[in-house]
Amino acid sequence: MDIRLDYSNVLDTSIGNEHGLNLQELQSMAAAAAPYHEALQQKRADGTLGFFDLPHDETLVNEVNKYTGSIRERFDAYVHIGIGGSSLGPIALHTSLNSAYYNMDRQPAMFFPDNVDPDWLDEILPHINVKKTLFHVVSKSGGTAETASTLLYFMEHLKKALGENFYRNLLFTTDPHAGLLNQIANENPIKCFRIPQNVGGRFSVFTALGLIPAALSGIDIAALMRGARKMDALTGREDLFDNPAFMYALIHTEMMKRGKNISVMMPYSNKLRDVADWYRQLWAESLGKRFDRNGKRVDVGQTPVKALGATDQHSQVQLYVEGPNDKITTFLEVGHFKHNTPLENHFPYIADFDYLAGKSLGQLLNTEKSATELALTNNRRPNLTLKLEKVDAEHVGGLLYLLEVATAYAGELLNINAFDQPGVEEGKIATYALMGRKGYEKKKAEIEKALQARPVHVIK
Ligand code: PA5
Repeated sequence: MDIRLDYSNVLDTSIGNEHGLNLQELQSMAAAAAPYHEALQQKRADGTLGFFDLPHDETLVNEVNKYTGSIRERFDAYVHIGIGGSSLGPIALHTSLNSAYYNMDRQPAMFFPDNVDPDWLDEILPHINVKKTLFHVVSKSGGTAETASTLLYFMEHLKKALGENFYRNLLFTTDPHAGLLNQIANENPIKCFRIPQNVGGRFSVFTALGLIPAALSGIDIAALMRGARKMDALTGREDLFDNPAFMYALIHTEMMKRGKNISVMMPYSNKLRDVADWYRQLWAESLGKRFDRNGKRVDVGQTPVKALGATDQHSQVQLYVEGPNDKITTFLEVGHFKHNTPLENHFPYIADFDYLAGKSLGQLLNTEKSATELALTNNRRPNLTLKLEKVDAEHVGGLLYLLEVATAYAGELLNINAFDQPGVEEGKIATYALMGRKGYEKKKAEIEKALQARPVHVIK
């Protein structure tokens, strides 16, 4: 596995000292940062942070491979029901490691409905035979409204197709004990996998919830975990100046102090587009916090934005190069693409095409990345590059693990709890209340009162 972090363009030597960081200062900060590293290592050792050790769980890999092997013949479609951390990781694995046109010629066909737009959900039905579809319901808490309602929506069809045997086409991945999914599983013989209690939703891609759809669609999950393990060796380095996760976190948090409140992730690779989507949740939910760990109000966070190279050069880059200097951009670059056929100029009378002849599309894409990097750097915009030698299971495993550990380090550097999400819970509770869930009557009355008191201005 070869993943490199090139941070030359966040330094004052590239972008000047108004916006750039000083290498010696970074070095001193890294040298003084041992307590942050030790704090994380301690939380790893005492079992508070379970995500660190997931890639080492070979038993889980074997169990998942055995389970998916045993059901592959039974199902020709797979529907993944979950949202947020229960879905973004599996989607990122699927789109980075399987063909964009996977469902046109591969089975089981894979569907990831992570929203409750009824029209969108309904569009899945004509493409599946419910009797031959596995519905994998994933919820750490077991009660998230979107996941519960999507389950109920498909249950209607499952019951019609299978009657009381509906449970045969259900698989749950949830908390080891708590939550509504466990209550359903107590009443019906539904196969369950577990999300360990010490693993939060957005850090759970290496649990069964990510591994099952990956293995079912033919992704080499052993290689995925191997990549994460190899990265664990790098992100565990005590020399923090040489530790890619720590340096990613340090650079981002130092840039926040310089007003770079937006973290753009821009893969120059369609395959890695949803990795940027997954990162959006990881970085936003983990670091966007009102209070620090001492209870002091800090209103901290860095807004993650995803962009796609080269497509968004024609949409976003104008803003990034000339608009407010409030962003730090992370490029994801691919060293070698699988397909690298050189182009030919099929219109020899158009000399302006000659420069493309003999070049591959990958070469063009990477050159465009270099060009954007140059434009940002020339305009004193901080940017860094995570370069993957190639997009395969091992490298994707390594990349995701690197970003998880970087997020944990950033939480330490900001002195916030990167592993809770009180703001998300607030929204979940309001949804339960407004939808009339039992036990939330008081909250409902409070919300309605507040809404009534609020003046409404609408233009029709
Ligand atoms: O990271 C998180 O904890 C959240 O984004 C959750 O993943 C998301 O809210 C879904 O929750 P659950 O898996 O409990 O249904």
